[in-house]
Amino acid sequence: MSNPNVKPATGKLGIMVVGLGAVSTTFMTGVMMARKGLAKPVGSMTQYDKIRVGRGENKKYLHYKDIVPLAKLDDIVFAAWDVYPANAYESAINAEVLKEKDIEPVKDELLKIKPLKAAFDKNYAKRLDGDNVKQCKDRWDMMEQVREDIRNFKKETGVDRVVVLWAASTEIYVAPDKNVHYKLDQLEAAMKANDVDHISPSMCYAYAALKEGCPFIMGAPNTTVDIPAMWQLSDETKVPIAGKDFKTGQTLVKSGFAPIIGARMLGMSGWFSTNILGNRDGLVLDEPANFRTKEVSKLSTLESILVAEDQPDLYSDIFHKVRINYYPPRNDNKEGWDNIDIFGWMGYPMQIKINFLCRDSILAAPLCLDLCLLMDLAHRAGRYGTQRFLSFFLKSPQHDYTVDEVPVNHLFQQHTMLKNAIREMGGYEADEEID
Ligand SMILES: NC(=O)c1ccc[n+]([C@@H]2O[C@H](COP(=O)([O-])OP(=O)(O)OC[C@H]3O[C@@H](n4cnc5c(N)ncnc54)[C@H](O)[C@@H]3O)[C@@H](O)[C@H]2O)c1
Repeated sequence: MSNPNVKPATGKLGIMVVGLGAVSTTFMTGVMMARKGLAKPVGSMTQYDKIRVGRGENKKYLHYKDIVPLAKLDDIVFAAWDVYPANAYESAINAEVLKEKDIEPVKDELLKIKPLKAAFDKNYAKRLDGDNVKQCKDRWDMMEQVREDIRNFKKETGVDRVVVLWAASTEIYVAPDKNVHYKLDQLEAAMKANDVDHISPSMCYAYAALKEGCPFIMGAPNTTVDIPAMWQLSDETKVPIAGKDFKTGQTLVKSGFAPIIGARMLGMSGWFSTNILGNRDGLVLDEPANFRTKEVSKLSTLESILVAEDQPDLYSDIFHKVRINYYPPRNDNKEGWDNIDIFGWMGYPMQIKINFLCRDSILAAPLCLDLCLLMDLAHRAGRYGTQRFLSFFLKSPQHDYTVDEVPVNHLFQQHTMLKNAIREMGGYEADEEID
């Protein structure tokens, strides 16, 4: 079965990544190694997961690629922007995520990925001081330069389509402002007036991508495309957006574990999450204004899974706290501790402890691949606006907060949304209710 409304994935798919750090080089190296048959893309839904289609006697379980037309790993061409001039090979070595034996076989390909000059403002990430940065008259000019980069990349490589993925550092928190971020004309006026307090560099990348017809994915917790003006631009250009913040370690566990408590009608009085992390991401997040963006994102998970209004006896008084501590010896190998205070019959307290020794970029890389392939698919299927079916991959799923929409954070409900969207785009019936 195929859906005639979804265009085929012909030609090459360009993936332009903002940031050429630990996550993006781990992603690129893994894709290059996998297409040589030297590594497996473990953790990737698009490469491994099977979805049931049809019912009863007609049911079968198919890989995504057998339901919808997906770009192949061989079709991907990478490019990147970064504040630092190191190429993808040097950056992969510096990141110390992968062993040299897993990088060397694709060294030549990685060497060719030299970062384009970044659209950057040091006030948005004080701990960074690279000089591979665009000189810009104002934010409008910054955006125009990014558009030119995208056009040049298309011309030079001959790629058919481009997806832009933000895997750069977390910017300082930009709270959505009704006078700037709610209407597209206001946003454009602020860019032209060089309102540097309200227009982050990431907004310039996103605006440029959408204007060039490229889906945009926000992998950090930045509010970039999580504002009504960008939803409007996405609707007008008919180009999809997704965000925000890759759901990798602790929040993945949280959104998968909290449903156990909710399903058994146990109570919760507190959830304390803390981490130690020593990579450049950790360094940037050590700055309070940058951590604030992450904190807002991480804190949003529990309240829509354990809903106080539905069960006031059980969830009306949850103390939820999240901390990230910069600790260089651990580099990318983050350690997260969760202490969960729950209560049972007659209110008797109990505790659960979770200790996750993870590898941040190893968890994030398959998400980058899946988000890029599925956003490219969504675009070819004629979808635009916020792609809620991708919430499964995101810590703080975008939702329309102007009409009090509640985001879905429950991991298994998100999985259902993902499967249903794939079924629909494949011309099958979406058949699992989300309760
Ligand atoms: N790894 C995970 O598990 C995970 C989970 C959720 C979100 N994230 C987010 O993903 C992002 C990337 O993480 P990482 O570990 O690769 O960090 P990193 O510090 O290794 O890489 C980020 C890169 O972005 C560059 N950069 C910063 N601002 C830029 C700009 N305006 N334009 C171009 N480049 C810019 C930096 O120079 C740096 O090289 C971070 O925002 C992080 O919070 C990561």
